[in-house]
Amino acid sequence: MSGRRLDLAIAGCGDIAAYVAGFARAGRGFRLVACCDPATGRAAQFARRFGISHVYAGIGEMLAAGLRPDVLYLAVPHHLHRELALQAIAAGIPTLLEKPLAATLSDGVDIVAAAQAAEVKVGVNYQYRYDTGCYALARAAQSGSLGEIYYARCNLPWHREAHYFAGAPWHAQLATAGGGTLLTQGSHMVDVALWALGGRPTAALGVTRQRVFTGTEVEDLAMGVVEMASGALVEICSSMVSRPGQALTIEIYGSRGTGLYSNRPWPHVRFRGVRAARQIPPGRGIHALQRSLMGFRAWIADQPPAGEPPRAVAPTPTGERTPAAGQAPTSARPYLTPAEEALPVLAAVDAIYRSSRSGRREEVAL
Ligand SMILES: NC(=O)c1ccc[n+]([C@@H]2O[C@H](COP(=O)([O-])OP(=O)(O)OC[C@H]3O[C@@H](n4cnc5c(N)ncnc54)[C@H](O)[C@@H]3O)[C@@H](O)[C@H]2O)c1
Repeated sequence: MSGRRLDLAIAGCGDIAAYVAGFARAGRGFRLVACCDPATGRAAQFARRFGISHVYAGIGEMLAAGLRPDVLYLAVPHHLHRELALQAIAAGIPTLLEKPLAATLSDGVDIVAAAQAAEVKVGVNYQYRYDTGCYALARAAQSGSLGEIYYARCNLPWHREAHYFAGAPWHAQLATAGGGTLLTQGSHMVDVALWALGGRPTAALGVTRQRVFTGTEVEDLAMGVVEMASGALVEICSSMVSRPGQALTIEIYGSRGTGLYSNRPWPHVRFRGVRAARQIPPGRGIHALQRSLMGFRAWIADQPPAGEPPRAVAPTPTGERTPAAGQAPTSARPYLTPAEEALPVLAAVDAIYRSSRSGRREEVAL
């Protein structure tokens, strides 16, 4: 499987799927074989645009027709993640699921449990892990370069217009979206911060507001503090009511130094107090989304993602971790965001939402 193009099917022919299809077509890793969407006109148009020959109303129809892709990419509303992911897992198809893992924590738990039981590779497209600056920041924190991590601060001051909800009404309802800006957008930053800090989120405090989009059921502004098992704190501010064009930032403060990420004017990280080695995200591609897609491909094809060092599997006498003799060290290297790593993110967001309703600090229910 490693050398050839993998057959990719796409379920959900909406906004993000068009970007991913474009990146899939641009590289040499995939062959776009099918797309599925109950909005059949949209699916047909998507198929014409990306030269896809098989069009279905859903993945059930695709499977019934006997088409079994190497990889399924699911880009559907959040409340459908569980149902479609379980269908794909039952069919044994490796699946790249759009973020967040699911609309609810229990749906997320079901997806991870099913993937593990069936031993089907499922990833979640939290592509900021493949962003050049976020990757370098997280690796600096994980490697100990910043020392003991005391806290992180994430700020996502994004802007959405009314057509964001009018064009995709599922964004506006709790039953379909599961939440607002924190789950849909801010969880990207929560993902990077939890990944960088490592360990478990244990409790959270949160406050959410509807400042502009009062006709919806979801928040357009959220603030939260997540406590980690290590004692570190992660602060998150997620907004879709800020003026356009502002920088998304993540700051990580450690005993030896500080890492400051910003995505403007381009994704980059600066360090204060330490010189951290330059770390380059794995996977080929010009954009984090493309690298994420290619990273998932490498996992499915059992290939080392380009740029990744060999997998550390066995401690040497000096305590350094290097590949064990005789093992294919990179073959089992997971995609940077296997589904189980997206579960703590969902659990932390869930605790922030519960806290915003109860007015109390809430335990993370993992
Ligand atoms: N990684 C990112 O940066 C990023 C960015 C935007 C959206 N997303 C995620 O992608 C997913 C989709 O978001 P979007 O903005 O593209 O939404 P969208 O509304 O533009 O597209 C969703 C599509 O799914 C289709 N659909 C509904 N039910 C379906 C089914 N049963 N089978 C197949 N298709 C079905 C809809 O008809 C629609 O065309 C969400 O999970 C969202 O959070 C991720």
